[in-house]
Amino acid sequence: MSEHLERAFSPANLGKLQLKNRILKAATYEGKTPDGIPGDLLLDFHREVVAGGTAMTTIGYCTTEADGRINDQMMWMHEDIRDRLVHMNTELKRTAPDAKISGQMTHCGNFSKNRKMQRLKRPLGPSRQFNMLGMPSGLPFAGAMTTKDIDYLVQTYHDAARFMKETGFDAAEIHFSHGYGLSQFISPKTNRRTDEYGGSLENRMRLPLRVLEAVRKAVGDDFPILGKIGMTDGIKDGLQFDEAIEVAAMLDKGGIDALICSGGTSSFNPMVYFRGDTLDKGLIETETNPITRLGLKLIGPRMFRYYPYEELYFLEDAKKIRDRVSCQMIYIGGCTDLDSVERVMQSGFDFIQLGRPLIKDPAFVNNAKADRNYKNGCIHCNRCASLIEAPGGVYCPLNVEGQTS
Ligand SMILES: Cc1cc2nc3c(=O)[nH]c(=O)nc-3n(C[C@H](O)[C@H](O)[C@H](O)COP(=O)(O)O)c2cc1C
Ligand code: SF4
Repeated sequence: MSEHLERAFSPANLGKLQLKNRILKAATYEGKTPDGIPGDLLLDFHREVVAGGTAMTTIGYCTTEADGRINDQMMWMHEDIRDRLVHMNTELKRTAPDAKISGQMTHCGNFSKNRKMQRLKRPLGPSRQFNMLGMPSGLPFAGAMTTKDIDYLVQTYHDAARFMKETGFDAAEIHFSHGYGLSQFISPKTNRRTDEYGGSLENRMRLPLRVLEAVRKAVGDDFPILGKIGMTDGIKDGLQFDEAIEVAAMLDKGGIDALICSGGTSSFNPMVYFRGDTLDKGLIETETNPITRLGLKLIGPRMFRYYPYEELYFLEDAKKIRDRVSCQMIYIGGCTDLDSVERVMQSGFDFIQLGRPLIKDPAFVNNAKADRNYKNGCIHCNRCASLIEAPGGVYCPLNVEGQTS
């Protein structure tokens, strides 16, 4: 094994947390929390990931409040699920005592079709906005947050972070990208505010930095905070790389432990991060709401543009960010084979997050350590992603169909 592969499979510290290797599970909302409850479906999925040698799994899309959910099946951090989360995290550690667990902290902002709003009547984002996703649920418009709403949101991040630490998570990943709440503030496309939270990049970063500060206050210095940022929104008038690199620098200065550099937005151009076969066909197949299905047929080809898959599709841009910041760097995006793991390590990244490759083979690490010629078999068809809202949630259909590559 080369020195770079050895490094990938050797222990390393993420902030002050010791990990047994440098391969981490990326946040992938798996649709395995029926009615928002983290039960056996979610546990069993992540049990396989930690049993397979992954150093740290990530529970994706843990929203900070009920109204931060995109749909009403998502989990939010609140007292009623405390025992379930403690049970899940305890069980994961019983399965793999040396594995760690991170939770991705999110809020949908203006992008929601959640009919079971609790505090709000409609989703809120930085500015008033047409909410296409919410149309079939009777939520066609999102409102603009007041400064009181912003203060409330910051508090939800604080409380959710403390709750996650108390329930046995080892790290928190703040979602600053993919067109959700905080990224809507960063993006000039969705943030048209004229107060201190809009306009200049400094103003658009005010809320994300307040959130980072609040989460740090809640968890203390020894608990790693990761940040997933966008390097581009992939749309005209959206966030571009020249500002994204400054976003990274600001979060670095704000005390983030590690950055994960992604791109694209779920609302306008998701294929930037789902590089591979387009998603619309699969989503149309699984969608049960006829209005949403019609909408997908009409706008699908424009929204789900084809971005051909290539290995390590974010590497060159992520390297520029690596050169700019002093925090740790976690590579994400199309790292499917061992040559790619080697290249990412050689490029000076500290860790690698794998999304689809770990859905395809949760034992990636154990299998790759045992065989230098390991082939993962993920073909980036994105069929798993179109199952997000299907009964039972995400899995790799190729595995069930018995194909391996
Ligand atoms: C089924 C599925 C669900 C996803 N859900 C999330 C999510 O909840 N949060 C997030 O930041 N990214 C999400 N992603 C994106 C992944 O974290 C990752 O950025 C993307 O899949 C590219 O990495 P990969 O090539 O290793 O799969 C999801 C991806 C998939 C396939
Ligand atoms: S369905 Fe399987 S092969 Fe296709 S992208 Fe998902 S994990 Fe990879």
